[in-house]
Amino acid sequence: MAIIASNFKTNHTRNTTSSFVEEVNKYLVSNNISNEVYIFPTATSLDKFDITSTLNIGVQNAYATQKGSFTGEIGTQQLDEFDVNTILIGHSERRHILGESQDEIAKKFAFYSDLGYKIIYCIGEPLEVKEQGLEQTLEYIYEQFEGININYEKLVLAYEPVWAIGTGVTATSEDITDVHSAIKSKIDKPLLYGGSVKVENVRDICSLNGVDGALIGTASWIVDDFIQIIENTK
Ligand code: G3H
Repeated sequence: MAIIASNFKTNHTRNTTSSFVEEVNKYLVSNNISNEVYIFPTATSLDKFDITSTLNIGVQNAYATQKGSFTGEIGTQQLDEFDVNTILIGHSERRHILGESQDEIAKKFAFYSDLGYKIIYCIGEPLEVKEQGLEQTLEYIYEQFEGININYEKLVLAYEPVWAIGTGVTATSEDITDVHSAIKSKIDKPLLYGGSVKVENVRDICSLNGVDGALIGTASWIVDDFIQIIENTK
């Protein structure tokens, strides 16, 4: 059984999210799918999900607060209205584009783990680190665990090399298994791969040793492709 997650990032409207969810739900109901399937929509579309369905919903980001004066952020008071209890933390776009520090990420992790959220925690190295070799890559990744409770019961990890995200350049099987087996030897948690996963490569990637599923951006935004991705990994 694979964990298959679609991260919408800043894509899809409320309308297109609605039809997307409807189609995925229809597919999941009429097929015997054992995969654990997640969608991380934009916060504006969180109400477009039927929380009683087998399709799981998660939030791409939220602040480490219940409520308060944090302009532009959302807290658990808002998430509770949608029964959301899964969150992505540490995504490379939040680290590198939005400037989240490891300290902020660790605080967010502590806050949401205390509340019992399922956390998909992302790690991954930029190209200049990858080019220095496996040892440096692992060193960089291990630093991204600073302040993180790796024994947290509801923790799922996602290895997403930054250079593979949205670039069409997928990590090789060797890249993936090297990093996954090293992480797995230290942390006994489900570990997803993310970075230019698509219909054509998802089956091979998900059948590699130490890969428990995929976190997908670009290729998951077209509903037929997302369904085919689930189909290819069932
Ligand atoms: O969260 C998903 C990842 O950033 C992967 O994105 O599939 O577009 O490379 P991608």
